[in-house]
Amino acid sequence: MATKDSLTIVDNRTGKSYEVPISDGSIKAMDLRQIRTGPEDFGLLSYDPAFTNTASTRSKVTFIDGDKGILWYRGYPIEQLAEKTTFLEVAYLILQGELPTQKQLDEWTWQVTHHTWVHENVKKFMDGFHHDAHPMGMFISTVAALSTFYPDAKVNADKGRRDLQILRLVAKVPTIAAFAFRHILGQAYAYPDNDLSYVGNFLNMLFKTTELKYKPEPAIERALDVLFILHADHEQNCSANAMRAIGSSEVDPYSALAGAAAALYGPLHGGANEAVLRMLRSIGSNARIPEFIRQVKGGEAKLMGFGHRVYKNYDPRAKIIKKMADEVFAVTRPSPLIGIARELEKIALEDEYFVSRKLYPNVDFYSGMIYEALGFPVEMFPVLFAIPRTTGWLAQWQEMRDDPEQKIARPRQLYTGYTQRDVVPMGKRG
Ligand code: SDX
Repeated sequence: MATKDSLTIVDNRTGKSYEVPISDGSIKAMDLRQIRTGPEDFGLLSYDPAFTNTASTRSKVTFIDGDKGILWYRGYPIEQLAEKTTFLEVAYLILQGELPTQKQLDEWTWQVTHHTWVHENVKKFMDGFHHDAHPMGMFISTVAALSTFYPDAKVNADKGRRDLQILRLVAKVPTIAAFAFRHILGQAYAYPDNDLSYVGNFLNMLFKTTELKYKPEPAIERALDVLFILHADHEQNCSANAMRAIGSSEVDPYSALAGAAAALYGPLHGGANEAVLRMLRSIGSNARIPEFIRQVKGGEAKLMGFGHRVYKNYDPRAKIIKKMADEVFAVTRPSPLIGIARELEKIALEDEYFVSRKLYPNVDFYSGMIYEALGFPVEMFPVLFAIPRTTGWLAQWQEMRDDPEQKIARPRQLYTGYTQRDVVPMGKRG
């Protein structure tokens, strides 16, 4: 029988049948609206809370195969990128679509290096936070505040105007992150050093004290560079969706990116690495793991750092990070929690409860222990996630702005509230 790329839908309420084309493994939700019971009927909607089975866009940036544990940026496997490139190369790839030549990389590096400073008033703005303000709250607010320093960013319909804002954000997020870190330490801000690499300069702004010139530890600089590569983008995750939805109103990218960072802050998303450390600390010893597992199975706790909406296999980033942990611990002090983490992972990978739910370690399970070994307080972990993901959010944003199929995001709803009713005078209420 000849096959056709279409669905034939019979509406049993009316006996009518409809032909709905299938393309790219999907149907257009708008093709359901023709299915109506009469002229008064608005037509069928598709209902998909949290978009578990809804494609919101076409995209060329990142490809994930959750069953096979595959992650590609612009077609390049994450394993190769982590081994053979640097974060700024990957940032160029994700934003421009191709790996840079040496000349292109040199120019990109020069441009990023010369946009790392922020307006001096940003310091005054940050000084207004309490000494114990969460650095992610400071990061989100300060990125949003940058929109007031660059009002020209409101005009972002064409690529040329966007490129300058993208460059500013990629270059300045490490500075904002480092300033937030120094603020909570009560230390003076350390200014960018143009002689250092993107990550080397970030370490300089974080950890420089009285030395005239900060010299980053090469193994730590490389470890953080790889962690930035692994966190750069991840297709339509919660925060990328926020970036696209906010950006679809044509607001400036600083305001949209602040919203994306706010989404990342949540413990189910980028806040998970902070939650993993708190979970391991609360378990406290290998002896208490069985009790914790019982709590998780009883729904009293979540195994933070495990599970993923897309990966139903081992998160490929977690594999790379787990291998990296030993290299970092060789030049720092191993996290005292690593033993608990490894025993917890071993149990979870063998336990039917987790296996049946396809709960494997995700990118956040081991990254927190590396950040801790590098000397970061847990509060900095989501900020360390937001720095590289700024590149991914901007790539998703610019793709959305150039996509002729996109317009302002405005989902429908299934109304379940009251039918019309009349206002009752105050004296008759209650
Ligand atoms: C990131 O989307 C991305 O790409 C995100 C990210 C990125 O790079 O942008 O990869 C980064 O956010 C990684 C995820 C970090 N979050 C965590 O580690 C928090 C713990 N994980 C979960 O909360 C959960 O797994 C999610 C939020 C990550 C995914 O949730 P889903 O896809 O909505 O799955 P679900 O909540 O419907 O869970 C399915 C089942 C449920 O059990 P039942 O109700 O069917 O009995 O698995 C259970 C859940 O209760 N479950 C867990 C669990 N995660 C899911 N049970 C215990 N511990 C967990 N961690």
